[in-house]
Order: sequence, then C-alpha cells, then structure tokens
Amino acid sequence: MKSLKWFFSFLKKYRGRLFLGLLMTTGIVALCIVNPYISGVIVDDVVLAENYGLLPRLLVIMLAMTLLKAVLSFLYQMVFESVSQAVLYDVRDKVYRKLLQEDFAFYNRKRTGDLMSRQTGDMEAIRHFVAYTIYAVYQYVLMFIFALLMIFTVNTRLALLMLLVLPFTALTTWRQAKVVKPAFKRNRECFSSLNALVQENISGNRVVKAFAKEDYEIEKFNKENDKFRDAQVAASGIWMKYLPVFEILSYALTIILMLYGGHMVIQGEMTLGNFVTVNGYLWMLSAPLQMAGWRVNDVQNFIASVEKIYSTYSEEPKVQTPRTGGVHKKILGNVEFRNVTYNPEGEDIVTDVSFKVKAGQTIGIIGSTGSGKSTLMNLLCRFYDASSGEVLIDGVDVRKRDLYNLRDNIGMAMQDVFLFSDTIEGNIAYGRPNSSFEEVKKAAIMADANHFIKNMPDGYDTIVGERGVGLSGGQKQRISLARALLKDPSILILDDTTSAVDMETENYIQRQLKNIQAEKECTVFIIAYRISSIKDADWILVLDHGRIIEQGTHDSLVAQGGYYASTFRSQYGEIPYDLIREKEALKKEAGSGNEGNQSDLIREKEVLQKGEK
Ligand SMILES: Nc1ncnc2c1ncn2[C@@H]1O[C@H](COP(=O)(O)OP(=O)(O)OP(=O)(O)O)[C@@H](O)[C@H]1O
Ligand SMILES: [Mg+2]
Repeated sequence: MKSLKWFFSFLKKYRGRLFLGLLMTTGIVALCIVNPYISGVIVDDVVLAENYGLLPRLLVIMLAMTLLKAVLSFLYQMVFESVSQAVLYDVRDKVYRKLLQEDFAFYNRKRTGDLMSRQTGDMEAIRHFVAYTIYAVYQYVLMFIFALLMIFTVNTRLALLMLLVLPFTALTTWRQAKVVKPAFKRNRECFSSLNALVQENISGNRVVKAFAKEDYEIEKFNKENDKFRDAQVAASGIWMKYLPVFEILSYALTIILMLYGGHMVIQGEMTLGNFVTVNGYLWMLSAPLQMAGWRVNDVQNFIASVEKIYSTYSEEPKVQTPRTGGVHKKILGNVEFRNVTYNPEGEDIVTDVSFKVKAGQTIGIIGSTGSGKSTLMNLLCRFYDASSGEVLIDGVDVRKRDLYNLRDNIGMAMQDVFLFSDTIEGNIAYGRPNSSFEEVKKAAIMADANHFIKNMPDGYDTIVGERGVGLSGGQKQRISLARALLKDPSILILDDTTSAVDMETENYIQRQLKNIQAEKECTVFIIAYRISSIKDADWILVLDHGRIIEQGTHDSLVAQGGYYASTFRSQYGEIPYDLIREKEALKKEAGSGNEGNQSDLIREKEVLQKGEK
C-alpha cells in the first residue's frame, strides 16, 4: 500500500491532464450511447413507420458521432501517452538518484542485473499502467454502467435479468486476481534473475573463457531461462483458465436478450426498435466483462512492479550527511582514528584502531591480505561508518561532516580500478570535468601515464572500453592515479596503486608525490605489499586481522624485528640491515638517490649482495 501511495504521488503533478483525459473518455462513452439509440429509432420510426424522410438526418448524426469519437479517441490517447512518458521520466529519475545515494553495503548485497530490471522491465509495467490501464479500466466501468442505465430506460425487466450476470463476473474477477498476483510477482522475479545472470556472464566473460566454463554457464542460463519461461506459462495458464469463463459470461448476455427479449417482442411487450437498441448496447456490457480479466492482469502486473521498485527505492543508506548539513569547509588533512572498531555482521574486521596523522604526512599501511587495510580507508571516506570509536578529520568526526564535501577533498585510487567507457582524458578529468587539457596532462605526467597515453592511437582521445579494456593493469592503475591527483585533494589514498607498475615507475611516482607534498600539504596514505613503496613514509602502520600490530618509521620497525622486519628481509633477502643503510647513505651522498634512472629491486639486491661478499 505504501508503494502505491508513493507511486500515486507522482501522478499529482499531472492530475490536470489526467482529469482532461478522463473527461474525454467520459465523452466518448457518452457518444457510444447515441448510435444504438438511433438504430432503434430507425427501426421503429423509419422502417416500421415507413417514414423515410427522417433517415438522412439520423444517418448524418450517426456519422458525426463516429467522427467525433475518432477525434476524441486520438486526443485522449495522446494525453495518456504523454502523461505516462512524463511520469515514467520522473519515477526513473527519482529512483536513479536514490540508487546513486546508496552506500557500499547496498551495492555489496544487490545484483547489478536486478537493479537494471528495476529501471527497465518494471518501469515498462508502470508506463503501460499510466498510458493504457488507467483509462481502459475507467472506460470499461463507465461503459458498463451507461449501457446498463440505458437498457433500464428501455426495458427494466430485461436490464434486471442482465444484472444477474454481474455477481458471477465479480466473483471470477476476484478469484483470478488472487491467483494472478503471486504469478506475476514470480514472473518479475524470474525476469530479474535472468537479467542478473546475463549481466554477470557478460561482465565476467573473460573468466568464463579462461576456465572453459561455457557449457556450465549455458546450463546455468538454461535453468534460469526455463524458470522464466515456466513462470510466464504459469501466468498465461491462469489467464487461459479464466478466459472461457469471462467469454461464457459475456455470451450469457446475448442469450438473455435473444431468449427473453425475443419472447417479449413476439408477445408485443417490447418494440423491435427497442430490441435493436438493446442489442446495440450489448457490446458495451459484454466487452468490459470479457476484458475484466486482462485489466486485472495489467493492474496486478503494475502493482508487482511498483512494489519491487519501491522496495529498492525505500532502502535508506546507512551512511548519510547529517540532517543539519554538516561541517562544510576545506579540509587540511589531519587524520585521527580513535579506538575505531568495525564489525558489520558481528565479526570484527577492524578492531580498536588508533593512530594520528598530521596534515602533509605520508602514511604507509602494510599487512597480509584481508587484514583490513582497504576497510580502514573505506571508513575514512565514510563508505562505511565505524561501529564504535571515531574517525576524525581536522578534529571533526567524519559523521558530522558534509558527506560530499568530505569525499570531494579526498582523492582515491582504488584497489579495484574502474574506468568508464570514455576517452582517457574524460576518465582522468572525471573528478574535475572543467579541468583544462594542460591540467589533465600534468596529472598524467605526475602519474607517469603521459608517455604511454601519447603513444596510443588517439592519444588522450583514445576511448577505453568498459572497465578499461585494452589497457594493461599498470596502465589502468596510472590513469586511476592521475584521476585522483587531478582532484588536487587534501587527502590522497593510494590503495595498492603501484602494485602493477615496475620499480622504476614506482620510484618516479614517489618522487612526484613528494613534489606535490612540498608544494601543498597533502596527506598521503599508501597501501602496499612492497616495502619499497612505503619505506620512506613518515609513519607506517602494520595491520593483522584488523588490528595495528606494529607502527613506527621504517627504521624503528626493522629494529623491532617483528612482522615488518621479517617482510622486509623476505623482500630484500637476508642482507644485514646496517649494510642497506650504509648503501642508501652512499647513494644519497652521490646524489643519485632522488634522480631518474633508479635501479629496480633486482639490481638493488645484486649490488647489496656483492657488497656483502
Ligand atoms: N562490508 C563488509 N562486510 C563484511 N566483510 C567485509 C566488508 N568489507 C570487508 N570485509 C572483510 O574484511 C576483511 C578485510 O578486508 P579488506 O578489503 O580491508 O582487506 P585488505 O587488507 O585491503 O586486503 P587486500 O590486501 O587483499 O586488499 C576481509 O576478510 C573482507 O572479506
Ligand atoms: Mg585491500
């Protein structure tokens, strides 16, 4: 019921036009009465009375009525069609806006294909309801009432007898409605599932191929396809079952007229003209009865779709901007986690994490896979809210900040890179669409992406396919980094951003980040597996099972001899630490530490191992 109330609120705006449409529908039904009446007059007063002088006038009226009906029909159908498109536009827009507001938790649960079905198949059911069902139901009800009233005026006994059919029709309609609703709901669900499966298979097509699972996927698809077909057949089956009943009920009217009406004419209790008139009204009685089942189907289909759309629409995101509007100002970049715990399903993903970062610092985060590194950053961006504790930015709880302002100040290169099917320039400028080409290029240079972009067939205008198809993993990462850098953020988050680039490129990017930080205080979080990515950070957090198990600078962590130190040894080989420091000092002295042409990890290792010998 709530869902219908929600939907009808969209019609309010168009009530004037809907009223006009219904008024025209009423006019048409009223016009329908005229011709059968004239037919009766022709029989009684023209043919039987042999008064043919009246005929031309009556025929002109009949023709005029038919023409007027045709014009009105065209007009009211235009009105309903245009209102339906306008309503559909509003509903689609509103639902889409809400979809974009939903949080990560919502998208974690929902299947893309299901959400797509809400915007396509279910919306079509709504359009059909406004464009057709509303006036059709109104027209049929009105037609039935008008025709019955007219028959009453012609012959009361005949009308009363015909009325006897009504309870049977009402009962059949009610019974059909009861069974057809769940059938339509199932129909829509199966359609949605099929959609979701197809969407998943098309997106995951490369994995399907890589594992040669085509047959398995076809079998899965066939199962869903069968289910959808069966649901359709079941829904049609209900209709087939009830169709003959509606037909019989409408024929019953003809039988009543032929037997009882005919008898009355023979007995002289009714004129032949009246018999013809009632016969003319008969279709106005029988058509609504025949169509009752169809319209019930339409209405049920519409209700099932509105309920599905509303159930998605009414899910409120847990993460929201405070109702008061929240703190809305430029962020400096001081970050503090105060006893932050995150346990969405009762299971701790982040446990009692506390640390403090000053604006302009670089923080390295390292830890085994699934240790909660990305989650920590998701809490900072408020993709999720902490279960307990506080995440503070410039001393203000992120939950008290304006959500969009907060995210506008954060540049994030996500672990799972997503690029839009747009040009490379469009992708980099996504966060700042008004940027000049020079700014885009500068960001690309800083992310060491300019070189390979220039070598692409259309340079910055090269269209990258959906999800960046046609680019290597490292290229995608660098475009994603350029996109984050162009935002000129106060807080920059690089989640595994340099994992797919070689050491030389990584060194280059690190130097660029240093330049940015020297220019402007920008807090940088670097999540990485490679020690080389984070060893120069001002502070390093080591995570394990959602807890900070070690923290400090590179030197202090190596000296501690814990997880970090052992990771360091495994990546750099069993080399005495003092020797590494010595070599680094030498490199700095020689002035080669920060210049181009840096050696990669293997070369670095070789040098160090030679030194050891
Ligand atoms: N919203 C969520 N609901 C339930 N579990 C979650 C949620 N988000 C993350 N997890 C789980 O929390 C754990 C930490 O995930 P997270 O992505 O933070 O790890 P990570 O350290 O970034 O790992 P990786 O290095 O592989 O990227 C994982 O076990 C993951 O399955
Ligand atoms: Mg991660």
